[in-house]
Amino acid sequence: MQYEKLGNSDLEVSVVGLGTWALGSDFYGEVDDSQSIAAIRQAIDSGINLIDTAPPYGDGHSEEVVGEAIKGYREQVLIATKCGVYRDGAELVRDLSPSTIRKQVNDSLDRLGIDTIDLYQIHWPDTNVPLEETVAELEKLQEEGKFRYLGVSNFDKQLLEEITDLTNIVSLQPHYSLLQREIETEELPYCVEHNIGNLSYGSIGGGILTGKYDQPPEFDDDDKRSQFYPFYDEETWSQTLDLIDVMEEIAAEHNAPIVQVAINWVRQQEGITTALVGAKTPQQAKQNAGAADWDLSAAEIERLTKASNKVIK
Ligand SMILES: NC(=O)c1ccc[n+]([C@@H]2O[C@H](COP(=O)([O-])OP(=O)(O)OC[C@H]3O[C@@H](n4cnc5c(N)ncnc54)[C@H](OP(=O)(O)O)[C@@H]3O)[C@@H](O)[C@H]2O)c1
Repeated sequence: MQYEKLGNSDLEVSVVGLGTWALGSDFYGEVDDSQSIAAIRQAIDSGINLIDTAPPYGDGHSEEVVGEAIKGYREQVLIATKCGVYRDGAELVRDLSPSTIRKQVNDSLDRLGIDTIDLYQIHWPDTNVPLEETVAELEKLQEEGKFRYLGVSNFDKQLLEEITDLTNIVSLQPHYSLLQREIETEELPYCVEHNIGNLSYGSIGGGILTGKYDQPPEFDDDDKRSQFYPFYDEETWSQTLDLIDVMEEIAAEHNAPIVQVAINWVRQQEGITTALVGAKTPQQAKQNAGAADWDLSAAEIERLTKASNKVIK
């Protein structure tokens, strides 16, 4: 495993991190908790030290599973969770009001069974609450020791500018992969310039960039993947298969699985600190962590970027 400093914090994070959205066991297919715990422990054994979760993942269940899995491993892991989105049944509600954040941080600490969150991230912007009010409450919570560092997720450049005028943030968590590169024009350069780290999510397109699908997968109606990662519609699907052909050739040259090519392309981009990758099984966790055992060459990165350009309009 390789480790990098996260932005201007003193956190040394693994360049592959573990995402635990799926471990909430809803909206992402069903998962078995004992399998999830085994996946988290395998990730830790493989050198991953950054685990990302959030209250809406399984309406708190993902945080509970993470809490259970890290019992006895607290010193080896950095826990990242989020505020500002909660569940109302199947609905996701955005709410960055001070009272909601205060409740959420305490609930997260209880579910995770820890005293302090290492990285607390604003999950999504909430246009109904002035950012100043949100930040003032977050700074109080930080002073109270509820969390160590503040990060944001899904913020565009304008919001990044607004929040960096108000307070210190160490990271952005954006959607970023060979199939989703919007942040390259504004947000990523802004972060590089201001020493803000990046934890990419959807780094393997929700699974599609493993190359495991010959046909577009059919997810259950309540599975959010096809909405959230809309790569399965024609004509994106056929173009993605062409991209995967290129990935397969490069993977074969390294005697590595395709998924590691997807992860390495992301984590080796300037400004990306960690590629967050979800894993439902110990096998997936180990394979994903293994990406950090080797690097793509500059020529391979360029070849992949060119292949990605043909998919991304
Ligand atoms: N901030 C945000 O708004 C936001 C949004 C989305 C995600 N996130 C975070 O980012 C993390 C990563 O994103 P993600 O989990 O949505 O998507 P992802 O990492 O692109 O894909 C993860 C899924 O791919 C499949 N997979 C993983 N490794 C595999 C392997 N080696 N071989 C075959 N299949 C494999 C698994 O599902 P199957 O086995 O079912 O195929 C897994 O659940 C999340 O878990 C979450 O922590 C944040």
